[in-house]
Parts: sequence; structure tokens; C-alpha cells
Amino acid sequence: MTAYYLTTPIFYVNAQPHMGHAYSTVVADAVCRYQRLLGKDVRFQTGTDEHGDKIVHAAADAEVSVKEYVDKISAMFKAAWPPLAIVPDTFVRTTDPAHMGVVQGVLQQVYDQGDIYFSEYTGLYCKGCEQFLTEKELVDGKCPDHLTEPDQISEQNYFFRMSKYQEWLIDHISKNPEFITPERYRNEVLSFLKEPLEDLCISRPTTRLTWGIPLPFDSRFVTYVWFDALINYLSGLGYPAGQDFSRYWPVAEHVIAKDILKPHAIYWPTMLKAMGIEPYKRLHVHGYWNMNETKMSKSLGNVVRPGELVTEFGADSVRYFLLREMSFGLDAGFSKEALMARHNSDLTNDLGNLFSRSLTMVKNFAASCVPQPGTPSDQDRELAEAALAMLGHYREHLDHFAFHRALAAVWEVISRANKYIVSTQPWELVKDPQQAAQLGTVLYTLLETLRLITLVLHPIMPETAAKMAEALGVTDENNLSDCGTWGRLVPGSAITHGAQLFPRLQQETKDKPQPQKNKAKKEPSTGKASAAETAPEEEGLVTFDAFQNLELRVAEIVAAEKIAKSDRLLKLTVKAPEERTIVAGIAQHYQPEELVGRQVIIVANLKPAKLMGVASHGMVLAAKDGDRLVLSALSGPVAPGSRVA
Ligand code: MSP
Repeated sequence: MTAYYLTTPIFYVNAQPHMGHAYSTVVADAVCRYQRLLGKDVRFQTGTDEHGDKIVHAAADAEVSVKEYVDKISAMFKAAWPPLAIVPDTFVRTTDPAHMGVVQGVLQQVYDQGDIYFSEYTGLYCKGCEQFLTEKELVDGKCPDHLTEPDQISEQNYFFRMSKYQEWLIDHISKNPEFITPERYRNEVLSFLKEPLEDLCISRPTTRLTWGIPLPFDSRFVTYVWFDALINYLSGLGYPAGQDFSRYWPVAEHVIAKDILKPHAIYWPTMLKAMGIEPYKRLHVHGYWNMNETKMSKSLGNVVRPGELVTEFGADSVRYFLLREMSFGLDAGFSKEALMARHNSDLTNDLGNLFSRSLTMVKNFAASCVPQPGTPSDQDRELAEAALAMLGHYREHLDHFAFHRALAAVWEVISRANKYIVSTQPWELVKDPQQAAQLGTVLYTLLETLRLITLVLHPIMPETAAKMAEALGVTDENNLSDCGTWGRLVPGSAITHGAQLFPRLQQETKDKPQPQKNKAKKEPSTGKASAAETAPEEEGLVTFDAFQNLELRVAEIVAAEKIAKSDRLLKLTVKAPEERTIVAGIAQHYQPEELVGRQVIIVANLKPAKLMGVASHGMVLAAKDGDRLVLSALSGPVAPGSRVA
């Protein structure tokens, strides 16, 4: 079995976990689950970074001993992951004696071979980064990440001969295009390496810091934070002995954000080279989650806690949002509104509706069993082909950490399947016994499409995929290659109609009707409803939920004609984005030829109705102004089918 090893950064315990930490860890969890779906033997590692001045200061602020402090915050990180369905295999703490022993072993080896030396250094030190910064890296004299001025520090210390490996590193990055991805970060590192590299200060005198790992060759010093932290990627595998190291290290990949690019792309590979170890395979670098254009971070005090969001939205919804909303490598803006919108639109409307409509039809029209498919028509075949093609796109994108693209490919099939229901109209087929085979094909095609969607959702939304798999009776499907073929569902096997996948969530707004007011209106017999509870301005209002149930879409009129014997009705063929017929009562206000090419707003999920013998699938919105009827329009052209909300 091929091995796969993926790590997150180990997080500083000077702050509690927030959504920024959660993002890297969700990414790593999703990729590890995906690699398992490919049949690999996966090792997923995370942990906490517990040494350094920052942590000593945080403990002092909290008025507890450093040990008590690191134990408490490390436990918080460990506890933050299961509620997000994140399941690491190893959790490394840099205060673990085993890790400390490995770091000391490495220091001694590199010192013995002459790559660590003693010298004096003066430089600009940022406490937040725990590293010296160059003048060039400052913005207006301040650290760009912490917005504080660095201190000028001069002291005797030990140094790692990093400069010795500069040429090797440039060559390695140049020969391995995927070593640092996405490409923008590879370019950034190569451009940084055009200047001569300075050697890396790797120690702190114990007069200034005691909370660190003592240098094995000079007990007056402890090791500097990066030489300690980066080695967690090896110590977690039991380096230098142990089978895990030889099994997983050759396939190691790391996930980080751009803040720690330099340590991972420069310090770490040169350290490995000095140790005589092959560098990791790939470094995946993502951007920042911002709140109102500023990086979400403890020091700026604008963080969102994962626990809060999981309680409000559920783990899968949060995971889906993080992976769908951010283009890996670029920054993204975080807001609860955006999360709510994705939850209600992509999950409740698109996926949730497809799942529940399909299963309800199987229950009502096929006695809750997988039906026998008949000969497929073109549109049945098209959906099947799209679902299979999606598997390929999904793999290609996930292999390159392009989660938003992989999910867009899945949602494209979800949207096709929803349109397929509208155009095949199983509720009409069921009325005609002659169409029984066709009905079987349509329902089978929908169930197979849902099975493939379930398969690819396992890494992204494990709980939802498990519920879907249960309903479809495919809980044993856990391999993308074996199960990614068409036609595995066995006709006659049972389908269970489970609970709704995603509850629709309501935005908390000032003008949202209060639940108890509605209740009071429904239960007037208690006689307890106050005047305020039945305020007249509430009459006639609909809930946000009811509004969201209306599917308003942009439709482009591609053909229009009069309906024989009717002076009021026009038959419109529209694209929304699939083609459909809508009968509109606008013949006295518009000539057919002036309508072609116009974009209008339609109600897309209105029950079909027959008007003068023509089936209408939806309604065109228009304003009534006295005797005039004026069609709805948009202020600019948009893609047909776009949702109006
Ligand atoms: N302890 C070091 C890492 C050592 S790894 C050998 C460290 N810790 S940290 O707690 O500051 O974590 C930084 C990491 O947290 C980022 O690289 C990223 O993975 C994650 N993020 C923290 N804030 C973030 C955002 N606002 N947005 C995205 N990711 C963020 O650096």
C-alpha cells in the first residue's frame, strides 16, 4: 500500500485555537481522507509548539506556571479538532521528552559535523515572529505581520551554516516544480534566494530564556524556536529509528500559511540537507483568512472560534465553507453571512433538495427500492457521463489542493441533476404505465449520481456523506477507484429515506419575526398573547425561510410565440440555464419578436401547470402599473440561470 504523510504547522500555545488554525487543519484532514479514499496508508500529524519567549509571556499574563499554561492550551487545541470531524493520527507537543531528545540528537549531529558555530549577532528581532527580520522585510519600520517595531538585539549565540546550502536549495527548487506550491510562493522563495542567505541564529542564552531545549553541547543556551519546532515533523515519526520514519518520511508533505513560508521553504530543507535527509516532497502554502481586510489573528483580537461556528452551523457546513470559499493560496474574507449564504444555498437548496427530492420519489414511485433501469435516453446518458467526468476533475483538483475547484465540479453535477428532475418530470412518468421503464431509468440515474456525489463528499463532509451512504445502502464504499464506476447500485436493494441533511438556517436580523410572536398568533386560545405579540405590522409578513423556498432565477428568452385561441398568453422558451417553456399572460403588452434576447426574472420552482394545453414550467415576473404590465429586468447582463436573492 502506498504511503502518504501530511502535517499541519504545530500551533503556538500562546493563544487558543481560532478559524485560521482550523483552516489548515481542516485542509489537512480533508486531504488525508481523500488519500485514504485513494487506498493509501495515511499518516496525519498536527500538534503544538510550546517553547519560546511568547509562551513565557502568555503564562505570566495568565498568572500560572509555564507548564500549567502549556498543558492547558495544548489540550484546547487537541480538543478543538474532533468537533470539526478532524482526526489526526499523531499530536506532537514540543515539550514531550521524546521530541526534546530528538532535537538534541539533531543539534549534536549538526554541531559535530561543523555546521553549527558560535558567534556574535546584532539584528532586528520581532518578538511576535520570534525571529530576526531584515530591513527589507519591514513595512514602515514595523513587522508586517504583528504591526510592531522590532527590537535591536546584540548577543553571542550559536548559528547554523544555512548559507552553505543556498546553491543546493536553489537547484532543488528549480528542478522540482511542485516542491513549493502554489507557484506564486515558489517564485517568492526563488526571488528571496537571489540575495545571499545569512546563517541562522539557533540559540538563546538561558539568561534571557530558560523555557526551551538545552543545547547538548553548551548548557548556557537553549535552542531557538524554529530549530526545535520544525523537527516535530521527524520526531512524530519516531526519527531516527523506527519503521514509521522510513515508511512515511519519503512521502512527506506540509500544509502551512504564508506567514511561515521562509522557515519551511528555506530553514527546513537546508536543515534536512545538513542532517543528510531527503527534503519533504511538497509544501502547500495557503493565504490568510481576513476579517474586514485584516488577517484574523490573536494579536489583532479579531478571531472567530471554531467551536462557536460548529454549534451554530454544524461541522460539515463549516468544513464545506472553508474549503469552497477560499482559493488555496490566496487570501479570503471571513464572515458569518457568507457562511450562512453557502449553507442555505449550496447545502440546503442544492444538495439537500436533490437528495430529499430524489429519495422521496424513490419512496413514493418505487416502493423505496433501487428500480430496474431501462434503456437510457440522451439526457439520462448525459447526466451519467457528467457524473463520471466529475470524478476525474475532482481528483485532478484535489491532487493540487484546489478544493474550491473540486467542489465547483461536484456542484455542477448537483445542479445538473436538479435540472434533470425538472426536465424528466418523474411525477408525470409515474402516471403512465407505458413509461414505467423510463421512470426506472430516471430514478436509477438519480440514485447513481447521488452515490458518486456521496463518494466524493466523504473527505469534505464526512458526517453528511455517511448519512447519504446509509440512505443509499452503500456504507461499505470507501475506495474512489473501485466505486467510481457507473451502475453499482443493485436493483431491488432497499433505500431508506433518512432525515433532512441540512436544516435551513435563519439570519439573526433586527427585523426577523420573533418565534414567540408567531406562536402567539397560532395559539390565540391561550388568551395570553399581548397586544405587542400580535402587532398589526406583522400581518402578511413571510419568514426568511418561506422566501428562501422560492427559487428566483434569471432566464433568457430564446423564442416567443402566440398561443392559438388566446389573446392573453404567449409561449416563451427560456434558458435558465436549461431550456424550459413558460406560458406568460403578457400578449397584450409585448409582441413575441421584441422579447427574444431579453433577460427576465422567473420563479423557477413553481409547480408545472397547463395553460391552453401548453405545460408551463415557471412564471415570469412583471410589474402591474394600472393597465400596463412591465416585464422584470436586470440592470446588466448576467449568466442565464443565476439565482436572484
Ligand atoms: N508555531 C509556529 C509554527 C511551527 S511549524 C513547525 C506558528 N504557530 S502559529 O500558531 O502562529 O500558527 C501559524 C499557522 O496558523 C499558519 O501558518 C496557518 O497555518 C494558521 N493560521 C493562523 N492564522 C491564520 C489566518 N488568519 N488565516 C489562515 N491561516 C492562519 O507559526
